[in-house]
Amino acid sequence: MEVIIKANNDEICQEAARIIIDQWTKKKDLVLGLATGSTSLGVYARLIEAHRSGEIDFARIRTFNLDEYLGLAEDHPQSYAYFMDQNLFRHINIKRANIHRLEGRPRDIDEHCRAYEQAIRQAGGIDVQLMGIGRNGHIGFNEPCSSLSSRTRSKTLTRETVADNARFFAKEEAVPRFVLTMGIGTIMEARTVLILAYGEKKSEAIFRCVEGPVTAAVPASILQLHPQTTLVVDEDAARHLTQKEYYKWVYQNKDRVSEYLR
Ligand code: F6R
Repeated sequence: MEVIIKANNDEICQEAARIIIDQWTKKKDLVLGLATGSTSLGVYARLIEAHRSGEIDFARIRTFNLDEYLGLAEDHPQSYAYFMDQNLFRHINIKRANIHRLEGRPRDIDEHCRAYEQAIRQAGGIDVQLMGIGRNGHIGFNEPCSSLSSRTRSKTLTRETVADNARFFAKEEAVPRFVLTMGIGTIMEARTVLILAYGEKKSEAIFRCVEGPVTAAVPASILQLHPQTTLVVDEDAARHLTQKEYYKWVYQNKDRVSEYLR
């Protein structure tokens, strides 16, 4: 896992947007896996700016969102569909047909999840999966002890995640308890995983994700087995990492490897 430590959230978002734009430069019909939540907001703001300044064109980009609350219609202000429209899609030139989302009110949950997996396969798989991390180490809505090989399906949120997400709702009781989420197995098939975190409240989860044992109790720790994961965090989120100085050195010197080829 590549660990990049930045000074603040602004720099994290800048780095993440740069990685996405670099990948788009190599593949114009990039397949992006997208997340919602506070962490991804700044990345979307950067991507919108980059779109306006002509650094990225979304005309051929296809997207798949990670998760959705069960029970919320797509025009519900707390649905992830609404979040994506407000914070990214309505500001860029993405084609509606290229946006894929899990529905909050599918007629048949199992069938809907199967079709979602099929749509990802048909798109050729996810090139870059952007993600945040929960304080309990969840990725997508794969809560602790989710199967490490799970596919897209319904899950039940922990009380901790419900409490964390209550800030977006009028009251905690309004937070849906059931969700749909890509599985951990689905996420692990993305070619590149880009996981971001800022702030002290994520520091324990980041330590367990990067330096703890691989365990279903910390779903993000499975990323230690992913061949191409980049984690971008700020100093606060990185505070418990024991190899912090090493990660910084590696990042600052990564271009020097090519010196040996001369
Ligand atoms: C959201 C998602 C979640 C969040 C995580 C962090 O689509 O899949 O895993 O990324 O809960 O949320 P924030 O960024 O709000 O701290």
